[in-house]
Amino acid sequence: MADPSRKEYPDTQALIAAEMPDYPSFIFSERELRACAKTFQDGFDGLVTYAVKANPEEHVISVLADTGLKAFDVASPAEMELVHRIAPQAALHYNNPVKSRREIIAAQDLYGVKSYAIDNQAELDQLAAIVTPSRDVEMTIRFKAGKARKAYDFGTKFGISENGAIDLVKAADALGYTVSLCFHVGSQCEESYAYERHIHAAGRIAKKSGVAIKRLNVGGGFPAAYPSSGAPPLDRYFESIERALKKTFGSNRPEMIVEPGRAMVTPSTSLLLRVKHVRGGRNVYVNDGAYGALMEIKFMPIVPAVRVWRGAELVTDKTRPFILFGPTCDSYDSLDQPFDLPQSIQEDDYIEMAQMGAYTQASTTAFNGFATRQQFFADKIFM
Ligand SMILES: Cc1ncc(COP(=O)(O)O)c(C=O)c1O
Repeated sequence: MADPSRKEYPDTQALIAAEMPDYPSFIFSERELRACAKTFQDGFDGLVTYAVKANPEEHVISVLADTGLKAFDVASPAEMELVHRIAPQAALHYNNPVKSRREIIAAQDLYGVKSYAIDNQAELDQLAAIVTPSRDVEMTIRFKAGKARKAYDFGTKFGISENGAIDLVKAADALGYTVSLCFHVGSQCEESYAYERHIHAAGRIAKKSGVAIKRLNVGGGFPAAYPSSGAPPLDRYFESIERALKKTFGSNRPEMIVEPGRAMVTPSTSLLLRVKHVRGGRNVYVNDGAYGALMEIKFMPIVPAVRVWRGAELVTDKTRPFILFGPTCDSYDSLDQPFDLPQSIQEDDYIEMAQMGAYTQASTTAFNGFATRQQFFADKIFM
């Protein structure tokens, strides 16, 4: 049944005219999310899943389930509960290598999880004490194989070396689990060859361990097309993966999984912020910042496309660089990267940022009491 509280508009202009929102507002387009899901479903030859952490909003999970996604990468029991409630048939891949015994018990007993990722012998021991080894349970060994040109280096925290992975694969197999492999090249990876390098390493791990690898999960890391990104289009990544699979496994490839977060959800949400005031003709104070929707932009050199509204009219005068400050009473709450904004920008204008679907809503805080953000829906959103 349609949700009567859902506020839906044709576009941002109609939304502003009707609502004049004073809180930071996320604008979601179901059409754009379906288009991203289709890009992965058409381009990737294997099981397409979604890394819930990138945007755990209920509307995101339910649209993705409706597009036919049959599995989700979850990092915690709370994410399991969310997916289980919305898509009870979906498989849950517990691919966060950091787990407590209580969380493993919840995963197994409450949510029926049968797929776990690990990157250390201690984790295998911890899991084996709770999850009875059986070929019905998948133990996915997360390995790393060199750095890539990307925004985040996950290798500092996750992934076992190639040689370590060989031993861990053998150990998981000897216990009686079904064994798979996974890697994550790093989020916003702007180099498609990173996937090829990791797939070649997966081939060597499989060969040297002598264990039949059931599935190979190529993780997330696929880039969003921010204006500040130098990444090639996603097709290039799918081609790289296909080329490496052919070369490494020939006709004997494992079943394949992909679990994008960022690239799946980035284009489907824009962010509408309101100007609280402008100081010194240079500093613009807005109603969300580093403790909210701009948390990732605070420490990443991402610059989204922006446009400015005065009431329901676009402001089109000449632009120049401004510094953005968030609403909290804290000096950390500002952004280093300048934003090109109309030089007439003033109190109560709206700044709309495109491609804000990933790692924005997922990491808002209530710091200083700035807890409220609104959700709107629009068919056509700012890209
Ligand atoms: C295990 C795992 N899979 C997938 C993802 C999604 O990565 P991305 O948002 O770069 O696609 C992450 C992100 O942290 C992750 O930890």
